[in-house]
Amino acid sequence: MFEKLQAMPADAILKLIAEYASDGRADKIDLGVGVYRDESGATPVLQTVKKAERFLLETQDSKSYLGSGGSPAFNAAITDLIFGAGASNNPRITTLQTPGGSGSLRVAAGVVKRASPDAVILAGEPTWANHVPLLSSAGIDMQTFPFYDGKSHRIDFDRMLSAVEQAPAGSVLLLHGCCHNPTGMDLSDEQWRAMTDVVVRRSVVPFIDIAYQGFATGLDEDAYGVRHMLEVVPEMIVSGSCSKNFALYRDRVGSLSFVARDEATAQVLRSQANNIVRTMYSMPPDHGAATVSHILADPALRQEWQRELDGMRQRLGDMRALLGAALRDKAPAADFSHIERANGMFCFLGVTPEQVKKLKSDFGVYMVGSSRINVAGITSGNVGHLADSIAAVI
Ligand code: LMR
Repeated sequence: MFEKLQAMPADAILKLIAEYASDGRADKIDLGVGVYRDESGATPVLQTVKKAERFLLETQDSKSYLGSGGSPAFNAAITDLIFGAGASNNPRITTLQTPGGSGSLRVAAGVVKRASPDAVILAGEPTWANHVPLLSSAGIDMQTFPFYDGKSHRIDFDRMLSAVEQAPAGSVLLLHGCCHNPTGMDLSDEQWRAMTDVVVRRSVVPFIDIAYQGFATGLDEDAYGVRHMLEVVPEMIVSGSCSKNFALYRDRVGSLSFVARDEATAQVLRSQANNIVRTMYSMPPDHGAATVSHILADPALRQEWQRELDGMRQRLGDMRALLGAALRDKAPAADFSHIERANGMFCFLGVTPEQVKKLKSDFGVYMVGSSRINVAGITSGNVGHLADSIAAVI
């Protein structure tokens, strides 16, 4: 039976990790996958994670099963982190722990498919490379709306808004909460409010993927869109992730929240999601989520974690400024000012796919084919080589 199968093409981002690893050049630079790196190029385990893990090692007294929705303590803590303090008491919100943001997105898509089999999910152009394959694997039709103007390196908000104005009622609108992947260009608070008005008027259901909370401006500021919509819209889906802000990438910690019209509907949504989880992976892994719950529940540890997060955000801003200055020096005729306007880990460098290939083959500089760069891969030691390489190919 298996001989009929054809090999699948490798995932572009994961393939890039392998290519980079096997490149022997000493001056190679990894601007590919979205993981934080420090000045030495490492992706360290956070100190607060280490402390919480030590606590768990000493005190955890059982590894018995939890339910399909994971740990109630984690779910309450992450609900408060995303939606604001006290949100876990809001009966309209129900949250399940999921295996990363990806697990959350996939379960959410399953619930959407059951609720409205013909519903379409609208995703911005561009969006995270895995959004479309991941969500459409639940059998949902995906369509795109214009998001980014590659010429001006800005959000094309008017076209985005008018696309949502045209969306059929009951469509699901996928938005990035902050630190847009791949462009790093986020809606302003004013744009969130304008989008919310259209969403309500057109009876569109917002689905916010917030995978980088704390990487743009701060934990509360970055959640503005989610929190504003919570006040105004009748229904919403929110996928959260602790991969980046707790650096728990491989431990797979995420959350799926539904905001329903009322408590009874929230509970129905919860039971539907639980049922989907039970038939896919039964329940999420515990260790990373238990680590996060402990950090968030312990005031001193929580403060220390926020300082670690602030440090990561600060470094990303510093590296943007460093590359911006180096390019003004090495490629004065080109405008790369968008690198410093973008938020979080990513921005679109704005070079062609051929130039991306040349950067890899001739200079050992790795980035996704769209020319999305992860600014965490920049260091004060490699920025010169990076700017020289970019100047050489453009
Ligand atoms: C990225 O976009 O690089 C990350 O979110 C990792 C991934 O799974 O694609």
